[in-house]
Amino acid sequence: MRRIVFATNNANKIREVKASLGDQYEFLSLADIGCTEEIPETTNTIPGNAKQKAQYVNHNYQYNCFSEDTGLEVGALDGAPGVHTAYYGGPERDAQKNMAKVLHELSAKDDRSAQFRTVIALIIDGEEHLFEGIVRGRIADAPRGNGGFGYDPIFIPEGHATTFAEMNAEDKNAISHRGRAVAKLQAFLQQ
Ligand code: IMP
Repeated sequence: MRRIVFATNNANKIREVKASLGDQYEFLSLADIGCTEEIPETTNTIPGNAKQKAQYVNHNYQYNCFSEDTGLEVGALDGAPGVHTAYYGGPERDAQKNMAKVLHELSAKDDRSAQFRTVIALIIDGEEHLFEGIVRGRIADAPRGNGGFGYDPIFIPEGHATTFAEMNAEDKNAISHRGRAVAKLQAFLQQ
């Protein structure tokens, strides 16, 4: 089985991606390859950060690898939090504070449309490839549900009445930004 590094230590992301790609590759996390330092994420775009993380691991650890970067883009906030999604509510990167800030910023707005965007950067055999997944939806009036992670309790995907946090993992994966980006990655890896 080929080995590939998923350049993250986020257990939620690893679980979601393994559910789609699990039996084709042996996945190594950053911890598995001894990468314990903070990987720089200093570009100001989502694809830029995804590429930066994959290039860092490929360059410093010589593994085929992929990384992903995700942002929540809210229409009435001109696409914010976008590349700042992880620490929108403060440097402690706390999901409750992040969600509270989005809800606060939207409290006087009628337009609650939003989307999640994931970009996966793959570096394999010295070549780089990008895969994007988007799910459109809207921001709920208040957090609902206990599943998922991050902003899932306030995101209602288009065509649904429930938040991502009220769905089971399989249903979220089938329509989510990450699920869609991973499906493209999977199709590419199967070629
Ligand atoms: P990053 O891609 O790890 O930098 O994550 C950016 C931010 O988006 C973090 O606050 C995550 O919790 C959040 N996030 C990433 N993926 C998801 C998701 O699938 N649902 C909800 N929030 C997410």
